Amino acid sequence: MKSSVQNAIESRISINRFQADRPLDDETITSLVTLATKAPTAFNMQNWRFIAVRSPEGKNLLKESAWGQQKIVDASVAFIICGTLSAHQQLAAALQPSVDAQIMEQRTVEGWVKQATASHENNAVLQRDEAVRSASLGAMTLMLAAEGMGLGSCPMIGFDAEQVAKDFALLPTELPLMVVVVGYPLDNNWPQKPRKPVADVLTLA
Ligand SMILES: Cc1cc2nc3c(=O)[nH]c(=O)nc-3n(C[C@H](O)[C@H](O)[C@H](O)COP(=O)(O)O)c2cc1C
Repeated sequence: MKSSVQNAIESRISINRFQADRPLDDETITSLVTLATKAPTAFNMQNWRFIAVRSPEGKNLLKESAWGQQKIVDASVAFIICGTLSAHQQLAAALQPSVDAQIMEQRTVEGWVKQATASHENNAVLQRDEAVRSASLGAMTLMLAAEGMGLGSCPMIGFDAEQVAKDFALLPTELPLMVVVVGYPLDNNWPQKPRKPVADVLTLA
């Protein structure tokens, strides 16, 4: 029997056409992001922020910088998923709950902070890579969470990141790396697109 995870992975498709005017309540939006934050991040940095754009004004504003893509307004919510730079600076705070829960020892946290600071502090490329990795894993987890709730989603990079940063008052350390729209699909979306043969992409070493 297939697991629910396998079902979610196999049934997910990028939704282009959503049922308009079907809002999601804030509790459901919060559940989606709670599940998204279960995604792993390097050192458990959790260097991300999820902006749930669900007001008509907000969605229209975002649509303007997303090349007019209609699904931004038709979907129930458009998540701007930001990855954050300088994540090592907030690592101690991010790990404190693991100390409080007696999962990690204080000295282990100090060791991780030292290690992350040494590798990330003067490495802008690594900081950006880390932001992209974290936001991408969060985005994928969010899409599978949506699938599990019977909702559809679509990841999007078709937007002007600088404009989005301005319009949604992002901090200089926050990069809007992906928009994920979530809502109720219409029936006339493309079916799942075939993938390359696994033999072309799998190397057994
Ligand atoms: C990083 C990323 C950016 C994407 N950007 C857009 C986008 O701006 N607009 C859009 O309609 N689809 C976008 N897509 C959806 C892809 O076209 C889609 O995932 C791909 O064709 C595979 O189809 P599937 O997701 O249904 O399996 C994006 C997907 C990814 C992963």
